[in-house]
Amino acid sequence: MTNPLAVAVLAAGKGTRMRSRMPKVLHPLAGRTLVENVLASLDQVQPERQIAIVGYLADEVRSALAHISGLEFVEQTEQLGTGHALQQVIPALEGFEGNLLVLNGDVPLLRPETIAKLVQTHVDNNNAATILTAQFDDPTGYGRVFCDQNYIVSEIIEHRDCTPEQQGNRRINSGIYCFNWQQLMTVLPHLKSDNDQGEFYLTDVVKDLAPVMALDVDDIQEIAGINNRKQLSDAATVLQQRIKDELMLSGITMINPDSITIDATVTVEPDVIIEPETHLRGTTTIATGCHIGPGTLIENSTIGAGTTVRYSVILNSSIAGTGTIGPYTHLRGQAIIGEGCRIGNFVEIKQTTIGDNTNAAHLTYLGNATLGNRVNIGAGTITANYDGVNKHPTVIKDKTKTGSNSVLVAPVTLGENVTVGAGAVVTKDVDDGCLIVTRGERRIIKDWRPRSIDPKNTEG
Ligand code: UD1
Ligand code: CA
Repeated sequence: MTNPLAVAVLAAGKGTRMRSRMPKVLHPLAGRTLVENVLASLDQVQPERQIAIVGYLADEVRSALAHISGLEFVEQTEQLGTGHALQQVIPALEGFEGNLLVLNGDVPLLRPETIAKLVQTHVDNNNAATILTAQFDDPTGYGRVFCDQNYIVSEIIEHRDCTPEQQGNRRINSGIYCFNWQQLMTVLPHLKSDNDQGEFYLTDVVKDLAPVMALDVDDIQEIAGINNRKQLSDAATVLQQRIKDELMLSGITMINPDSITIDATVTVEPDVIIEPETHLRGTTTIATGCHIGPGTLIENSTIGAGTTVRYSVILNSSIAGTGTIGPYTHLRGQAIIGEGCRIGNFVEIKQTTIGDNTNAAHLTYLGNATLGNRVNIGAGTITANYDGVNKHPTVIKDKTKTGSNSVLVAPVTLGENVTVGAGAVVTKDVDDGCLIVTRGERRIIKDWRPRSIDPKNTEG
């Protein structure tokens, strides 16, 4: 294969300006960590190797990224600069022949198209290095890239090392590069730290390589780095806009999209309507024909086609489709709801599986339960699933109806076609077809009040 590609992600820094115990690259953005967003920009290139350079709280970064298959880690125990960071991959890439793409763990808005274009430009021009650049109105703080009219770069000088005249150059270094690895290896091991910060600057390799080319990005937002929480919030706004614009163009209606947030990890099929104040997070999938919101939070859940959900919270659960959920339903902990169910007002369902066309329309708690098809749960039915130590199961079979305010004391099984009378406390299993009533016998006691508080006898 020609031109194999390796990727190194610089992720060893603490990110002091985040004012956080957590490593900067693990801060969340649109449902992923910063560094996962960076890795997502590799979608259109096929790297043979991916190496993350970790340092500050390295174990935490490693375990947060352990799910990414093929990602390797090298440790930079002391953060002596970006050049020193990249030196740490030298042993891992011994004998590698190809190009090395260098990404910063704190530049999360890169589009896959941009990375693909950087690599393509690098390969097409046979460059020693290709640098992603942009012209900023305010380039303060960034390294400046000096190039001729053909974008051939002579050097990069850090802001603090620039003369006032050099500071006038508005072309900045994004910190994203593609290198010919063999050529980089002729200079990377020999960096010096003779600069204002006494660090080993990766940017210093540029003056000793040729040809080095600058590639201006089309959209300067893409190369914004995150150094503090204000920039994190700005990046979230940019990403939200992007995610929602893409969804709307793919056939989703959003009412007041500014009030809606959707993680980059969410899938929404065409012909879904999303109403205001709705938040879709994590691995959520919404199938076609759903009407979601207003006022709904859905996290790591699957909503089947044609479901309506209003003013509800759905976490780690799934709904087969065509039913209605809410207002004010709380599904959590693996609630699995069948087709055509009506789950209504003030109903909480936890770790419970429900068949098709079953209703629990009002004021109910179902926990650790299994319900069949066409069950009707009366208002105020509660599964008493917890004895203070353990959780116990409740089974309610097809077509059974529970009366209002019944308490099902688990473990307990109601057979098929059972009817539970209102107010029952069910402590033992009930066979198919039975009616169970546990109310005390009706008694009416006349003239029961003591004389002193009988309204007829009080004065005033
Ligand atoms: C760097 C560039 C600068 C560019 C800017 C773009 C250098 C010398 N300068 O500056 O030209 O305009 O990025 O944002 O490269 N890191 C490590 N180990 C270290 C030091 C840094 O892993 O020892 C990581 C950081 O965690 C971060 C990235 O490298 O993800 C960039 O480091 P940072 O210190 O932010 O570099 P800048 O000063 O922003
Ligand atoms: Ca930075």
